[in-house]
Amino acid sequence: MTDYKTIIDTLPSLLEGTEYSVSVLSNASALLNEYMDNLNWVGFYILKDNYLYLSAFQGKTACIKIKVGNGVCGTCIKENKTILVPNVHEFKGHIACDSASNSEICIPIYKNNILYGLLDIDSPLLNRFNEEDKNNLEIICNIISDSLSNTSF
Ligand code: SME
Repeated sequence: MTDYKTIIDTLPSLLEGTEYSVSVLSNASALLNEYMDNLNWVGFYILKDNYLYLSAFQGKTACIKIKVGNGVCGTCIKENKTILVPNVHEFKGHIACDSASNSEICIPIYKNNILYGLLDIDSPLLNRFNEEDKNNLEIICNIISDSLSNTSF
């Protein structure tokens, strides 16, 4: 079971005191990987000029560039909302970076209220993510968004 309370309590202080966005995203991905169960990939994609670019993550190597509208990640950005996929094999256009992935969730991230990128999490289990995960991960992404507003590069 995922210890969301520890993640939510720990995250603000862990992300404090840096102007470098990749430091924020690196620590956030490491904490999520440590305290969430049954994951095989957790990390961030950053939005620039209609493409998503791979940023800090934990897991196997992944696609480095995804066009907005493509895959689960591109759909999350295009629709500007959390996308919860119980079975990635049933999601039209799913991009398989790690063949172990069976379910996935993508949550948008903002910097100063402008869409900045997303948090992407993959699981080897079918149906790994539910509404409780969605709610907690949206709180976590708000904390990350707040921390990014203090970064300049
Ligand atoms: N599955 C994603 C691609 C990114 S990886 O899972 C890390 C997608 O369909 O957009």
